[in-house]
Order: sequence, then C-alpha cells, then structure tokens
Amino acid sequence: MIASLNNVTVSYRDHLALKNICLDIPKGSFVSVIGPNGAGKTTLLTVINGLGEIVSGRAFVLGFEVKSKNLSRIRKRVGYVPQHQNIDRRSPISVRDAVCIGRFGKIGLFGSWTKRDDEIVRYAMEKVGIAHLSQKPIGHLSGGENQKVSIARAMAQEPEIILLDEPTSNLDPRSQHEILRLVEKIYDEHKYTVIFVTHILNHIPASCNLVVLVKNGAIIHKGSPDETLKENMLSELYGCKITVVNVHGKRHFHTGEYQSHD
Ligand SMILES: Nc1ncnc2c1ncn2[C@@H]1O[C@H](COP(=O)(O)OP(=O)(O)O)[C@@H](O)[C@H]1O
Ligand SMILES: [Mg+2]
Repeated sequence: MIASLNNVTVSYRDHLALKNICLDIPKGSFVSVIGPNGAGKTTLLTVINGLGEIVSGRAFVLGFEVKSKNLSRIRKRVGYVPQHQNIDRRSPISVRDAVCIGRFGKIGLFGSWTKRDDEIVRYAMEKVGIAHLSQKPIGHLSGGENQKVSIARAMAQEPEIILLDEPTSNLDPRSQHEILRLVEKIYDEHKYTVIFVTHILNHIPASCNLVVLVKNGAIIHKGSPDETLKENMLSELYGCKITVVNVHGKRHFHTGEYQSHD
C-alpha cells in the first residue's frame, strides 16, 4: 500500500472533520473521493500530505508514519494541487517561477539548481500546455490556466502521489474538459498514484479504479466504480435521488428522475 489510514480521526479544534477512517490505497491506483460539500474530502487529503491534525489512529504514507519527524520526507514525494490557488494573484511572479516552486519542494530551498531541474520544469510546462505562458505573471491567467500551473508545479516535484482537490470546480465547461483529459493523460503516462477529489459525479475520470464515498466525516462506501457508482449508494451519499444512465459504456449522473427526451 502506498498509503494506509487505520482508524484515523482528524479535528479542527473541537470539530471532528473525519471519524475513524480506514482506507488502503494501492500503489498506482486512481482514487476518486466523492461526497457533498463539507463531507471531509479536503481534510482526507490533508492527512495524506501531513497537514491534518490526527487526534487518534495512525496513517502511513510511502512507508512512513504521518508524524512530525517524517513530514518533510513525505511532502517532498507528494504533489498537491489545492482547491484554492495558494499564490496571491497580485504577486508579480511568472508562470515559470510558480512551477519552479514545485522543484524547490523537491530539492530544498538551498539545494543547487542544475540543468536537469530546468529540463524538468520545462517538461512539466510543455506537458500541461503552458510553455507559451512561461513569462506571464500568474495574476494574468484564466482559471483553467491557473489550474494547469498548479498541476505543472506538482509534476515538477516528480511526485509518487499526486493529490488533486476539486481541480475542475470553478471552471467553464471547456476548461473542465481540458483539465480532466490532462489528469487522465498524466496518469496514463506516469502512473503516479492519483487521489482526485470532486463533488461533481460527472467529473469522475474514466481512469478511476477506486471510489471512496465520504459523508459527514465518514467513509460510507468504497470499492471499484462498478461497486460504488450505484443509484442507491449515490442517493444515500448526496441525500437526494441520483439516477445513473449508461450511454455507450459511459456513466452519466442526473439529480432526480432521468427524463429521456428520445
Ligand atoms: N480550517 C478549518 N477550521 C475549522 N473547521 C474546518 C476547517 N476546514 C474545514 N472545516 C470543517 O470540517 C468539515 C470538513 O471540511 P472539508 O474537509 O473542507 O470538506 P469538503 O472538502 O468535503 O468540502 C466541514 O464541516 C468544515 O466546515
Ligand atoms: Mg474541499
């Protein structure tokens, strides 16, 4: 297992955001974590990158227990694409600088920068399609471009695990589609372990092989897409009727009864 959570409880002061979570993530899997707003999805990611306040239970990531003495070792090898852009949009830093931050995360701020680091940064920008924006200030980018910068920054770290927190929320449909294809392409080519959080069922990528349903700080179901993306489980998850329609082998999800217009 590349990550294992054994009875993990996480709190924000006196608020329990995750309660007794048990989850095993095999190396190379593509995990989708789904659930309503406030369910605890982001908090689950914070356990894996060592930012969560674990009050009981134990978590292991990349062979290390998630504890203060191991955090820097773990974080170097975990790429994190946060839900909210964490670089101030007014900052004058360029797209390339923002991607380099990921590389510094790997080599350390005082590590010496080599030609290879330049190449990795250039490769990451080319891979996600932002090489032409290299010198642009990040404050001048669209939402979709910003999301690509975050993904390139995570890739520049050459991570073994990549965490993506709602990367398609707040984007227009075309950018949503682009980001989903990009995430799938990166997974297919690099075989990182991917943990993808979304509250939008139609954004679960086709590459996904493990689905985790989170509600009120607990995992209510987990398993393969066939085992979990079922009407009864999804309706329980969201507290409303969800209909699943199969079209040419692809699942589509609708809120309420599905009205066919054929
Ligand atoms: N920094 C925080 N301080 C206090 N409560 C928080 C904090 N972050 C999240 N929470 C609470 O913890 C719960 C889970 O939040 P979160 O993991 O962000 O959910 P999700 O990502 O599924 O929307 C929510 O009830 C939320 O209000
Ligand atoms: Mg969240």
